Amino acid sequence: MTDANIWQRFLAFSPGDVSQVRVFFAPGRVNLIGEHTDYNGGYVLPAALTVGTWAFVRLREDGVYRFASTAFPQVVTVQKGDLNYKLEDDYANYPKGVVWAMEKAGVSIPGADILYHGNLPNGAGLSSSASIEVVTAFAINELSGAGLSVERLTLLSQEAENQFVGVNCGIMDQFSVGMGRADHALLLQCATLHYRLVPVQAPGYKLVITNTNKRRVLSDSKYNERRQECEAALAQMQRANPSLTCLADVSVEDWERLSAVIDDERLRKRAHHVVFENARTQRAATLLEQGNLRAFGELMNESHRSLRDDYEVTGPELDALVEAAWTVEGCIGSRMTGAGFGGCTVSFVEAPQLPVFEQVVAERYIEQTGWAPSFYVSDIGDGVREVTSDELAQLAKSIL
Ligand code: GLA
Repeated sequence: MTDANIWQRFLAFSPGDVSQVRVFFAPGRVNLIGEHTDYNGGYVLPAALTVGTWAFVRLREDGVYRFASTAFPQVVTVQKGDLNYKLEDDYANYPKGVVWAMEKAGVSIPGADILYHGNLPNGAGLSSSASIEVVTAFAINELSGAGLSVERLTLLSQEAENQFVGVNCGIMDQFSVGMGRADHALLLQCATLHYRLVPVQAPGYKLVITNTNKRRVLSDSKYNERRQECEAALAQMQRANPSLTCLADVSVEDWERLSAVIDDERLRKRAHHVVFENARTQRAATLLEQGNLRAFGELMNESHRSLRDDYEVTGPELDALVEAAWTVEGCIGSRMTGAGFGGCTVSFVEAPQLPVFEQVVAERYIEQTGWAPSFYVSDIGDGVREVTSDELAQLAKSIL
């Protein structure tokens, strides 16, 4: 859809003066390493993408929110005082949840017409839902003049997803979509929200996201199951070591001793992944800072093996993509990214090898699964923001 079409779509949905419309953008994210560590109090290393979700917003004065999307035909209309999760409202449950969380936090506007337009593949594990949540929270914050920090907005967005939508995610997605910086990854300690920006220095390499094109059907129930398994493993270790507050408190050095009390092999494997992934993520950030991309890539591969064998969240499609990527000369690291069970992989590939990479991976993947993958060569962009007046003038020109 072109810019002109988006504006026409907006004005058909919300007629009136274009100059009263404000436009905001939040990216999606890719996680470079540190998977299933966020809700265990550990480290993650995500980066914001340059693709994401735009929100075109016009204030209303009548206590009503109307949500539209260029990807769905229906308009969802809700009274501010009557916000409930409804299956048939589909994507609009995310912004509804954000309005609910913001109102609860005392941040309020009288109402709005909001049209969303995105260029992230939905359900591909690149945080399209966090992107829509955070862009909505940011827009309401700006329009209300409440002045909440972006960090706070990411927490309110997570609250919307946990409590309103009912998905028990950690903080990684919302935080990276909100706080990302161009050409940097964020090394985030999820228990404290302390973070440091890590430059992604990869001259000569491309960051490639490969989509299995398999929607993550099982992801919510399996995701919650993994969370419970982690809690159960922690509870067993806590009986012997009451000072542990989360799995990420366990160091690699203490693993053998502290995990000896876990009486179930499956729980032990889950906890093993978390403890070693947490250590890997910190090491990986240092290697990236040192520009040692080859060693970084090795850790990405280790991460995938651990997610496949110990955490068991990969599945045949993700394994097929990653195992094909590993055979390509010039691919120095490849792993699944996000929750797993479908979605995408992330790989670093020497730039001249990119065509070979795409050909080999596509061929093997189609042969093994019958599905065709999609490839995105991605740049690392900034977090949520208002679209500048210059960018807006460009967009507006297209309808005059
Ligand atoms: C999903 C969740 C995140 C995180 C990842 C796994 O993306 O939303 O909070 O747990 O899975 O690392």
